[in-house]
Amino acid sequence: MLNTMLIREDFPILKREINGRPLIYFDNAATTHKPTQVIEAISRFYREFNANVHRGMHTLSQEASTLYEESFSVVAKFINAYSWEEVIEVKNTTDGLNLAAWGWGLYNLSRGDEIIITVMDHHSSMLPWRIVAERTGAVIRYVDIAEDGDINYTQLEEMLSSRTRVVAITMASNVLGTIVDVKRICRVAHSVGAIVVGDGAQYVPHVPTDVRDLGIDLIAFSGHKMLGPTGIGILWGRRDVLEEMKPFRVGGDTVKDVTLDSIEWHDLPWKFIAGTPHIAGMIGLAEAAKYLMGIGMDNVRQHDIELTKYTLDRFKELENEIFVLGPLDPRKRTGIVSFNVQGLHHHTVAKALDSFGIAVRSGGHCAHPLHYRLGFKGSVRASYYIYNTVDEVETFISSLKFIIALRDMLSKQTIEDRCTGT
Ligand code: ALA
Repeated sequence: MLNTMLIREDFPILKREINGRPLIYFDNAATTHKPTQVIEAISRFYREFNANVHRGMHTLSQEASTLYEESFSVVAKFINAYSWEEVIEVKNTTDGLNLAAWGWGLYNLSRGDEIIITVMDHHSSMLPWRIVAERTGAVIRYVDIAEDGDINYTQLEEMLSSRTRVVAITMASNVLGTIVDVKRICRVAHSVGAIVVGDGAQYVPHVPTDVRDLGIDLIAFSGHKMLGPTGIGILWGRRDVLEEMKPFRVGGDTVKDVTLDSIEWHDLPWKFIAGTPHIAGMIGLAEAAKYLMGIGMDNVRQHDIELTKYTLDRFKELENEIFVLGPLDPRKRTGIVSFNVQGLHHHTVAKALDSFGIAVRSGGHCAHPLHYRLGFKGSVRASYYIYNTVDEVETFISSLKFIIALRDMLSKQTIEDRCTGT
């Protein structure tokens, strides 16, 4: 079990008050807070080691290069990769999935090839493949969701054929919380020779991730959703798949040699990391991975289940007032609970919760097709992480009850939609 009270001491921002109340931060699926250890590691890099990497014989550059390269090994350990060379630094999950689609798709897809996507997918998992399909003449096929808030596996299995080249999946839904059976999808996709590309944004920070055991081909995830800084993410890939890819950003450090007629690409992972990298970001991400390994990813997972179970149980008291999205079984979810309140716009509910110091996200959560499929324009999303407590969930439920009691008054309010990332 997690010692949440001890963990909270590591997160200075949790001492803040919002609207005169202690901050209750339930927007972790959007971004998590950073522990002192991560903030210090980044600050120490700039205070003591700052220099460019792989570009200098001087001591600072050598030290910075060592620290930077060690970060790749830490991340490799976190996901049980075979080698640190399979760990590609990118900006975030979206960037990693774009690299997968452009770097693999553009060179390996032809007219008539099929790419399977699911209705549950985040736009970042869906859109890069749609654009690459337009360029290559490949065909997109969509797998629906089932009644229980999971992927319709039977439909997916029936859709697979020798034409299928890619199955792109959101490993854990950022709306429903659903944890997808990645191993099952990899097994069937590989049986027809397709690769499986995973959007791990909501999976890797919450579910113990062993890329060897999953048998997947490529996974992208973000540092900032797992206690690390923004602007840094990872595309992990099996070596043979990475070898089949070309970089889609090129320039400094991606090559061993260039003449006017030829390019000799660098070894993995450097051929994909163009220009001066986010050195402090990788160091911060490695520190975050160490922090999570220190508390144990099995414990992180249990904590999510505990808070989600508690929420879903308490939501039963509001059965006629709210509609909960996603699986009813908390063991099938990460720490995400999305819902809508009868008669209230999702932004109205989120704004009202903010007046109690409770931060949730509202909107389409960059998963519009999923919301339309469910008959909603958007939803309110509470998403938990290691520093959240049952007491906080309790305050959330009582605040929600208060908001529902004021529904008539609140429903007349117009909420200005300032969220551009819908
Ligand atoms: N994709 C992130 C979310 O679901 C930002 O909030």
